[in-house]
Amino acid sequence: MTPAEFIAGLPKAELHMHIEGSIEAPLFMQLARRNEVAIRWATEQELLAAYRFRDLQAFLDLYYDGCRVLVHARDFHDVTRAYLRRAHADNVRHAEMFLGPQGHTSRGVALRTVLEGVFAAMDEARAEVGISSGLILVAQRHRSEAEAFELYEQAMPWRDRILGFGLGGAEVGNPPSKFERFFRRCRDDGFHVVAHAGEEGPAAYVRESVELLGVERVDHGNASLQDAALLRTLAQRQTPLTVCPLSNLKLNVVSSIEAHPLKQLMDAGLRVTVNSDDPSYFGGYVNDNYVACQRALGLTRHEVVQLARNSVLASFVPEARQRELL
Ligand code: HPA
Ligand code: ZN
Repeated sequence: MTPAEFIAGLPKAELHMHIEGSIEAPLFMQLARRNEVAIRWATEQELLAAYRFRDLQAFLDLYYDGCRVLVHARDFHDVTRAYLRRAHADNVRHAEMFLGPQGHTSRGVALRTVLEGVFAAMDEARAEVGISSGLILVAQRHRSEAEAFELYEQAMPWRDRILGFGLGGAEVGNPPSKFERFFRRCRDDGFHVVAHAGEEGPAAYVRESVELLGVERVDHGNASLQDAALLRTLAQRQTPLTVCPLSNLKLNVVSSIEAHPLKQLMDAGLRVTVNSDDPSYFGGYVNDNYVACQRALGLTRHEVVQLARNSVLASFVPEARQRELL
């Protein structure tokens, strides 16, 4: 059995992916046509050629612009359904997905439209292929805390279907501390909370996420390696990191997968998980990320199994369901 076959066979959870970052080029072109949205690219090839990014901001510019092809509930349904089916093919049994409503409501698409499409696709995927999923709403950190609260209030009619809240977007200059009151509110009301930190930002942002925001998982967290005391805290508490290796490569967070800190973080005793982030933009789904790391970092089968187990243990599903998934 090849390492790729071994990885493909492992049941796993995916905990860090953005629904808007999973629109494959053919669907992107189809949605642009269907909704008569003007785009800069005439063909799929031209679109794919634009997927070269200097840094996170260059990616975010294209990513937010790409969101314009999503207009109707059916569009949000189609992209969510396509991701969940594709993830199921990678033996993902459970997915906790990110969605950034502000990127849609700010261009006049109602939150109801967005959520109705996404929830319908989640229900269908569970019934059709058995994959379970949850939805985490992500506030954009370049916007104000007041806007995050506004998103929160708008989402309350669906509170029973929302797994939690997160923080994404342009990291440097927008520290977690900016959202301390927002996260306290989310936690007080019983939602799970996570935040992107230490992708382009410093270890101090990871520390703030854990200590000020009280996050249960850190999204990315690469920079943790720069702070030995922080590493010990994360290891002690078994705070999971949702690491995204191919994303880090595409956004020049690392110069190569060989230089990726994933194994060092594992060796420091952290609960590390592997995820795809924005699979259509970064050139790989979750198994591609495992395979790239296994090869470049020489991970043993035991280490690969540990990563897959970690993904289930770091998920927000109840323990009984975790045991089913392991
Ligand atoms: N980082 C921050 N925000 C994001 C990302 C990311 O990798 N992908 C989508 N939104
Ligand atoms: Zn992300």
